[in-house]
Amino acid sequence: MHHLSHLSSDFVWGAATAAFQIEGAVDADGRSPSIWDTFGRVPGAIANGDTGDVACDHYHRWPEDIGLLRELGVDAYRFSVAWPRVIPTGTGAVNPKGLAFYDRLVDELLDAGIRPFVTMYHWDLPQVLQDKGGWPVRDTAEALADYAAAVAGALGDRVTDWCTVNEPLCVAWIGHLDGTMAPGIRDLRLAVDASHHVLLGHGLATQAIRANASAAPNVGVVLNLSPADPATDDPADAAAAVRSDGHTNRWWLDPLYGRGYPQDMVDVYGYEPPVRAGDLETIATPTDFLGVNYYFRAVVTDDPAGPAPFARQVEVPGARQTAMGWEVSASGLERTLTRVTRDYGPGRIYVTEQGSAWPDVVEPDGSIQDKERVDYLEQHLEAINAAVAEGVPLAGYFVWSLLDNLEWAYGYDKRFGLVHVDYATQQRTMKASGRRYAEIVRDFRASRG
Ligand code: IFM
Repeated sequence: MHHLSHLSSDFVWGAATAAFQIEGAVDADGRSPSIWDTFGRVPGAIANGDTGDVACDHYHRWPEDIGLLRELGVDAYRFSVAWPRVIPTGTGAVNPKGLAFYDRLVDELLDAGIRPFVTMYHWDLPQVLQDKGGWPVRDTAEALADYAAAVAGALGDRVTDWCTVNEPLCVAWIGHLDGTMAPGIRDLRLAVDASHHVLLGHGLATQAIRANASAAPNVGVVLNLSPADPATDDPADAAAAVRSDGHTNRWWLDPLYGRGYPQDMVDVYGYEPPVRAGDLETIATPTDFLGVNYYFRAVVTDDPAGPAPFARQVEVPGARQTAMGWEVSASGLERTLTRVTRDYGPGRIYVTEQGSAWPDVVEPDGSIQDKERVDYLEQHLEAINAAVAEGVPLAGYFVWSLLDNLEWAYGYDKRFGLVHVDYATQQRTMKASGRRYAEIVRDFRASRG
C-alpha cells in the first residue's frame, strides 16, 4: 500500500459498532424491547432465527472490548446508545441504570485515550413508540430530540463528537418500503413520511445536543451513500441511474444542505412528504461534519414494474463480491467523497463506516487469516488518500466493525469484524485484518513524527 501521504497528521483512525448489534442483555437494568427485538421474533425475518438477545454480550464484556480498541491503537470509537435503555418508555422518564452503562463506557474510553463518537439513533426504536406509529408519525421526531437532549445532558461534559441518526435510508426505505428491516412495513407513503420525520428528528436532535452538551459539541448525521451507474448505455438505464441516485443520495443530501426535497423524486414517488412550515429549515440546521458510510456502488437497470424508484440493482459480470454480494469498488468510495464535496460542500467529512464481510475461516491454530479483508481495507484507504488529494475535507475513517456482530436481517453469519467472535464461547480473536489495521495506524503516526 502506498503511503497515506495526503491525510492530515491529526487524521482520526477509528472503529465502529452499534448497540443492538453487539450489546445483548436485552432485559438488563430496565431496558424495554426495541423494534428489532420484535422483528427478530417474526419467523423468517432474521436469518437462522438469530436474535439480539445475547449478541456479543458487550453489555457485560465492554472492558475487554475497550482492551481490543487499545490493541488496535485507534484514536476513536464510534458506538451507539440504545434509546430503549435510556428512556424505556420512549418518551418521559430517564432510566438512570441505562444511562450509567454509557457513562462508564465513556469514562473508560477517555481513560484509554480513545475519543468517543456517539450515535444517538442506530435503528433500535423503542417498541412502545412503534406502537404509537413509529417514524411515519411526526411525534417520533420530537421524541428523538428529547432522548438526544437527555443523552447529551448526561455525557456531553466529556463527549464532543455526536452522530444524530445512522443511515436514514435504511430506516425509511428498507424498514418501511422494502420491509426487510424492522419494523417490516411495505408502504410507499408511510416510507416517505418516515423519511421526512427521520430527517426532522436529525435536525431537532442537532439543536437538542447543542443546547444540552456542556463541552462544545461537533454534530453530524450519518448517510450511507452509493454512486449509481447505468448497467447499459440504454437511455432507460441512464434514467434509472438518475432515479437510483435520487433515492439513495439526493433525497437525503438535498434537504440536509438546504435545497428541499428533489422534485424529480417527489414525482417518482407520486407523493409529497408531510412538510410543515419551518421543517426544511430545521432539517438544514448547519452541522459540523457529514458522516459517510460507504459499502458499494450500485449498477442499475430500468425496472418499471418494480418498487420505487423503479431501478433494479444488477450484478456486474466478473466483479469481486463480498459475502454480502456487494461489489468491491474502492473507486466508488473516492467518487462518493469527491461528489459530495463538489455538490454539497460539507466543511468536514468522516467516513463513519467502511468494511466488508467475508466467509472467514478459523485455522487449526485458532488464527483468522482474512486476506480478503486486508486487501479490501488497503484498497479503500488508497481511495480516501486519493479523495483527499482531490480536495475532500476528510478528517477520519472508522472501520465497520470492531467486532463480528448481528448483521441485522442477515444474522450472525455475515462477519464484518476486525475481531472474530466465537458466539458459543464469546471468545474474541484479533483477525489478520485487525493486526494490519493496527500496523497501518502505527506507521501513519510514525510517518508524521
Ligand atoms: O451492520 C451495518 C451497520 O449497522 C450499518 N451500516 C452498514 C453495516 C453493514 O451492513
